[in-house]
Amino acid sequence: MNDSKTLIHLVAGARPNFMKIAPLWHTLSACSWAEPLVIHTGQHYDANMSAAFFDDLGLPAPDHSLEIGSGTHGEQTGRTMIAYEALCLRQRPGWVIVVGDVNATAACALAARKLCLPVAHLEAGLRSGDRSMPEEINRIVTDAIADLLWTPSPDADENLRREGRPDQVIERVGNIMIDAYERLRPRIEAAAKGAALGLQDRGYGVVTLHRPVNVDNKAQLTAICDVLIALAGDLPLVFPVHPRTRAAIDRLGLQDLLSHPNLRLVEPLGYVDFMSLVTGACLVITDSGGIQEETTYLGIPCLTLRDSTERPITITQGTNQLVTTSTLLTKARAALKDSASGTRRPDLWDGKTAERVADSLRRHIQGAAAAA
Ligand code: UD1
Repeated sequence: MNDSKTLIHLVAGARPNFMKIAPLWHTLSACSWAEPLVIHTGQHYDANMSAAFFDDLGLPAPDHSLEIGSGTHGEQTGRTMIAYEALCLRQRPGWVIVVGDVNATAACALAARKLCLPVAHLEAGLRSGDRSMPEEINRIVTDAIADLLWTPSPDADENLRREGRPDQVIERVGNIMIDAYERLRPRIEAAAKGAALGLQDRGYGVVTLHRPVNVDNKAQLTAICDVLIALAGDLPLVFPVHPRTRAAIDRLGLQDLLSHPNLRLVEPLGYVDFMSLVTGACLVITDSGGIQEETTYLGIPCLTLRDSTERPITITQGTNQLVTTSTLLTKARAALKDSASGTRRPDLWDGKTAERVADSLRRHIQGAAAAA
């Protein structure tokens, strides 16, 4: 390590983290004062949930792999804390950056903060208000202890203030996911994944589902499958199936129910192929967090199968609507007739978030050095 550089840990554990740390890694690697290291906790480990993203996003192999793997929340969080604490004791990074809301986010923030290492949270302040979601607990815990809170939207700033976080630790930097997309836009457009699957541009829908509330319960997953089959009568659908969902379909014996010539179940896709598929779609049905944002940015109607969202700006300004299994079919048909209009991209969702994060970090590092 170069002594004049600040060692910065970029922590990622699961699929939605990789596209958030990648633009940061690229930007910080070009800064003379920063030495970014990628820490992969290993919550996601299948090649198509992890390594494929590193390749697509131009990330180096992780500098440190904690190889935590699957388990209950307690097991995953506990093992991550133990392994990350040991790494921090050996290495003492100048800053720890955690992103998003997965178990790795909260676990590493806790481990680092208790060693009095400065922690920044990128994508701070999002709240669904639903504390039955493990991600909501991860968000609340992380934001309560982080030293610096980088937010994507005004609602996030407001949530943090309401929870008593002081103004001076809140900085609105915008949406880092858009940086990942814009960096790779030429490759995403060239991939033409829809055409590769024999689909017409704007002539198909994309489905993703993995939330426990949707996929772990037989009645709910069966109801969703019924609606997808009905919708497949109107529109070809491509459904990249998450490992949790694949396991649930097998366990609950729903394979036959999902058989329809217009409903294509495929393996999880890498970042470029998945975003290419979404970019060419006319409709997205999801329970993901990030896809609500990507569809708003791209102006593609998004139906989110959840009771709440931690990303309300995608509804108030974007293309997103919350749906239930009872309203999904009607709303999908309405969305197909009435292409999204009057939506706009939220402020600072502009592909320059990583630069703003780097500026913020540089100011804090210089401020701490001047005060010492
Ligand atoms: C996690 C995140 C969620 C995020 C999602 C994206 C938490 C609390 N949840 O949920 O916020 O939206 O990732 O995918 O952190 N599995 C594999 N291979 C893998 C990874 C997982 O087979 O590479 C299996 C696991 O064994 C487990 C299931 O998938 O059975 C769920 O994985 P897990 O990481 O526990 O949670 P996700 O549901 O993926």
